[in-house]
Amino acid sequence: SDELRSLLLSRIRDVPDYPKPGVLFKDITPLLADPEAFGALTDVLAELCRERGATKVVGLEARGFILAAPVAVRAGVGFVPVRKAGKLPGATLSQAYELEYGSAEIEIHAEDLTPEDRVLVIDDVLATGGTAEASLRLIRRSGARVAGVAVLMELSFLPGRIRLEPTLEGAPLDVLITV
Ligand code: PRP
Ligand code: MG
Repeated sequence: SDELRSLLLSRIRDVPDYPKPGVLFKDITPLLADPEAFGALTDVLAELCRERGATKVVGLEARGFILAAPVAVRAGVGFVPVRKAGKLPGATLSQAYELEYGSAEIEIHAEDLTPEDRVLVIDDVLATGGTAEASLRLIRRSGARVAGVAVLMELSFLPGRIRLEPTLEGAPLDVLITV
């Protein structure tokens, strides 16, 4: 609803010139510190999880973990972390992806997803779309299906949605706030 959107938006703090000059950082810590806002966000994402028929929630390190874990608990489904490379101790699938400058790599524990799973990916921000795109590749490589991607914020001045579109393969992208 518009009411929820304005509550969430009011709890996101703009930090100019962070982490470097010219960047306007969207800080979600005021939202996390407000139980009404964090609770309402968790509720709406848990409802989405049910609507999409998700059997697992994947959260993207690090800020995606904070949003996704309570959603998984509330929706009654398992939580699976996608971590930055080198952090998971078991057998992993790895996916490299391009950043604005350079590249990055993320990983998942292969055994935590099965071909029966339908996965909802949750993160805080869709910017260039690289992180979300790589996570979808990991999920598909694990054999599971993608139930959708849900983000708190889409940065409308970046082409993340366009980059992500082909990899969604028709799965829905849900954005709560466009900034
Ligand atoms: C940020 C943000 C998203 C990602 C979006 O994570 O939390 O995960 O960038 O960018 P993209 O669409 O261009 O891939 P980041 O890795 O910077 O930091 P975090 O560990 O604090 O989540
Ligand atoms: Mg992140």
